[in-house]
Amino acid sequence: MCSVPVKKPKTDIGPPYYYDMLPEIIKENYGKWKYHEKIKPGVLKHVSENGAELYTVRAGSPRLLSIVTIREYADLADKYSGGHLRFTSRHNVEFLLSDPANIEPLIAELEAKGYPVGGTGDCLNNIIHTQGWIHCHSAATDASGPVKAVMDDLFEYFKKDDLPAKLKISMACCLNMCGAVHCSDIAFVGIHRTVPTIDDAGVAKGCEIPNVIASCPTGAIRPNPKAKSVMVNEEKCMYCGNCYTVCPSMKIMDPVNDGVAIFVGGKVSNARSGPAFSRLAIPWVPNTPPRWDELVVAIRNLVEIWVKDARKGERYGEWIERIGWEKFFEMANLPFTDKHIDDFIFSVPTFRTTTNFKY
Ligand code: HEM
Ligand code: HEM
Ligand code: HEM
Ligand code: SF4
Ligand code: SF4
Repeated sequence: MCSVPVKKPKTDIGPPYYYDMLPEIIKENYGKWKYHEKIKPGVLKHVSENGAELYTVRAGSPRLLSIVTIREYADLADKYSGGHLRFTSRHNVEFLLSDPANIEPLIAELEAKGYPVGGTGDCLNNIIHTQGWIHCHSAATDASGPVKAVMDDLFEYFKKDDLPAKLKISMACCLNMCGAVHCSDIAFVGIHRTVPTIDDAGVAKGCEIPNVIASCPTGAIRPNPKAKSVMVNEEKCMYCGNCYTVCPSMKIMDPVNDGVAIFVGGKVSNARSGPAFSRLAIPWVPNTPPRWDELVVAIRNLVEIWVKDARKGERYGEWIERIGWEKFFEMANLPFTDKHIDDFIFSVPTFRTTTNFKY
């Protein structure tokens, strides 16, 4: 553990120096925090070697934050935690309190404003998501919409810490996967399933053809000199949308065929077991805004079979490793198809054919 904070940077580029913003109690006990206890869902107590105590109250945020929400958080922090709060990587907001008498009044105000307190210990953590239709150009599904629908359905698990283990659900709206979904217990990822449609005039006018060709990881794009454009070899295309990122006239979006794939069993390493990479459980469910009913039902089913069958302490992937993947597919009532067969071996021809890397 580090006992001397990193030196203040000598430039004004980048974020402000974090040490200046730490609560006094954290500065005084820097590097001396000894252990923490779970008081109840959403509330932790941290104890230092000097006997100092700090309490964390965690609330789920709506993930896309309005100015109004941030002001409400800031007002609550001024009132209860000396102006200190932090955001976690799972879109939670945490208030750091040195006076335990403030815990219950803070929780009451958070709940009254609609910000639920929970998500620690053996709870469902807040679902992390990417940008979706509100911002990103390459999204195969929305982000906040499906996450809201799934979280509404599973909400009970955010506030109770009696799951077999912690449950982390993530979503990313395309294969670029900003959401680190491969290391979550259950993950859903937006996928395209059709080759890009090429607007030849647009490519000719607006795109650097060598760049478009180089953007394809499988080498599926070749020049079409007649049209001053490009052609796609459909056999080789894996619908990744990379070409669309560099050339908007290679349209990858497809309202009917785009949808969501669901993965299970990923985690980062912890004291008990190593990291695990999530694997495909359901190749495709359709995009059905505004409430993504098929997705919600599929995820609840995946959660419930784990809740029913896992031993205490078993993360999703650890449970599947114990019972076996065959049994998992049977219990989840899912067909095992050619789509599920691991095609990592395809990385060899991928590396061989990419325009950037040859051997
Ligand atoms: C412990 C951490 C990680 C592990 C074990 C891991 C593992 C992998 C593996 C095995 C693949 C497949 C490679 C193949 O096609 O043969 C992959 C691909 C990929 N990972 Fe990760 N990854 C990790 C972290 C990340 C993170 C943090 C991100 C996002 C920032 C990320 C983004 C991607 C992307 C975009 C691909 C597809 C790359 C491509 O095919 O061009 N990975 N990862
Ligand atoms: C939680 C995940 C992420 C979020 C929410 C996020 C968000 C964003 C946003 C909002 C932009 C600006 C886009 C625009 O102006 O249209 C951006 C740009 C970018 N992001 Fe991310 N990002 C994430 C993860 C990543 C990862 C994992 C990488 C690479 C490892 C990455 C690399 C980039 C790059 C290269 C740009 C373009 C920068 C530029 O054009 O100057 N991002 N990201
Ligand atoms: C060496 C680099 C990295 C390390 C050591 C690292 C480590 C971690 C750790 C320990 C967690 C906590 C997971 C948990 O609580 O179960 C985490 C979560 C996460 N990381 Fe990273 N990370 C790295 C790079 C990245 C990058 C490049 C991105 C994307 C831009 C990323 C995105 C995320 C996200 C979205 C989560 C939340 C996922 C979750 O809670 O399951 N990480 N990371
Ligand atoms: S996952 Fe894909 S679509 Fe979603 S924000 Fe990231 S790059 Fe954009
Ligand atoms: S970049 Fe991706 S979507 Fe575009 S042609 Fe190549 S494989 Fe297909």
